[in-house]
Amino acid sequence: MTDRVLCRLDDLDDPGAKAFDIGDGRPEVVVFRVGDAVYAYRNDCPHLNITLDFVPGRFINLDGTKIQCSNHGARFNFHDGHCVWGPCRGEWLERVAVRLDDGRVILDEAAAAADNSS
Ligand code: FES
Repeated sequence: MTDRVLCRLDDLDDPGAKAFDIGDGRPEVVVFRVGDAVYAYRNDCPHLNITLDFVPGRFINLDGTKIQCSNHGARFNFHDGHCVWGPCRGEWLERVAVRLDDGRVILDEAAAAADNSS
């Protein structure tokens, strides 16, 4: 199994987000950049299990401090995906394993496969 390069860190605004199709034919994984850190989550809001970006490509609140679902405004921490405000407060986004390697954002497909087998 090979790791997949999703983008370069510099391709993302700071803070910024971009959705990727990793095989489902839809933008099912969202990568977030905050400074030199990256986080990734399934594009799936725990409130209604629909995509976070009702407004296409819109994943972050206006002041750039939280992930925001554009359906009903739920807000989540970047670093752990915990919902801290909104209709699904206390729930979590589903993390997707990514890492940085020489400025590239890499999907850790081995970790993803291990998650899917448990
Ligand atoms: S679907 Fe995300 S807050 Fe309602």
